[in-house]
Amino acid sequence: MTQQPQNKPQNPNFSSGPCAKPPGWSRDWLENALLGRSHRSKPGKMLLKQATEKTHALLGLPEDYRLAIVPASDTGAFEMAMWSLLGARGVDVLAWESFGSGWVKDIVNHLKLEDVRTFEADYGLLPDLTQIDFARDVIFTANGTTSGVRVPNYDWIPSKRDGLVFADATSAVFAQSIDWLKTDVVTFSWQKVLGGEAAHGMLILSPDAVARLETYEPAWPLPKLFRMTKKGKLDAALFEGATINTPSMLCVEDYLAALAWVERVGGLDGLMARADKNARLIWDWIDRTAWVANLAVEPETRSNTSICLKIVDPDIAARSDDAKADFAKKMVSLLEQHEVAFDIGAYRDAPSGLRIWVGGTIESDDIAALLPWLDWAFETAKTDTQKA
Ligand SMILES: Cc1ncc(COP(=O)(O)O)c(C=O)c1O
Repeated sequence: MTQQPQNKPQNPNFSSGPCAKPPGWSRDWLENALLGRSHRSKPGKMLLKQATEKTHALLGLPEDYRLAIVPASDTGAFEMAMWSLLGARGVDVLAWESFGSGWVKDIVNHLKLEDVRTFEADYGLLPDLTQIDFARDVIFTANGTTSGVRVPNYDWIPSKRDGLVFADATSAVFAQSIDWLKTDVVTFSWQKVLGGEAAHGMLILSPDAVARLETYEPAWPLPKLFRMTKKGKLDAALFEGATINTPSMLCVEDYLAALAWVERVGGLDGLMARADKNARLIWDWIDRTAWVANLAVEPETRSNTSICLKIVDPDIAARSDDAKADFAKKMVSLLEQHEVAFDIGAYRDAPSGLRIWVGGTIESDDIAALLPWLDWAFETAKTDTQKA
């Protein structure tokens, strides 16, 4: 029987969103927040502009790509893009986990687009990327947060294409290299890789996406929250921090503090290296541990942010789906009771198991401290459920 480990992670927050705050974060980081002032005041506008400009620079976006802060987090950003831009041509939509499936539902059931091809794969797999037609608009999720499966690269997307490419990249931006020139719409939120606060989304548009906005009007009405043009032209102020409605200046301060931390740890490269190092620790542990496997089947598709684990121990794997889910829940609750790991159960729609966030705000020492606890929780849950 594995002994209960002594050493605990200093920060037990391994949730896949909102994710752990940057190491060293404290409420002092918010001390200078512009509270009780208008976001349209001179300092308010300056801070919002700073948030967009710093993000643009840190991500290394092409100069002619635009970036806006928009309402309702990643969902808001992605839906405003789909509602504003889709319908001009046919759409190929890819899905391999819960969030991607949500975009399929939006397109098929709600936007009710007629010319849609869907390419879906089970949890753990990717659809066949060679089947995608880039004369059409293309929708995909860069990193499937609920299956831990990412696109391996952007080589499957041609540089010259007639359609627009939309990537929901909320759990990829600031952790994975994104070939911006292969994408036209990219979204993410502050609460993921940067450990920021929820409710604010980021929308990145290529010049081709802007051209579509200025030349195409969807057949359906657009709520004010989705409108990015004024009199048929791009609302340029929106892409300089003049948000559509009121943002939280407390969250803006927190986001700026997270960006300053990114600079301190080596910028985008530093942050990507942190996620890679963390992921490697878990992958190596999986390789030497018989009871567990990565839900992502192909090594090049393994996420370096949301790692999903399935329990493959023959005794547990032979149990019913409900019993397997109960077993994983038992492990999660043991780890929570010992304040070793919070929020690491698989997503509600995903196969049962564990999901551990390893993006750049996580310290690799904390991953190293967590791993023996995972073995201990597995052994303990197994012994308990065998006795029951
Ligand atoms: C891939 C993906 N898309 C969309 C969302 C929804 O994000 P939000 O709640 O920030 O809108 C999530 C959240 O986990 C996600 O992982």
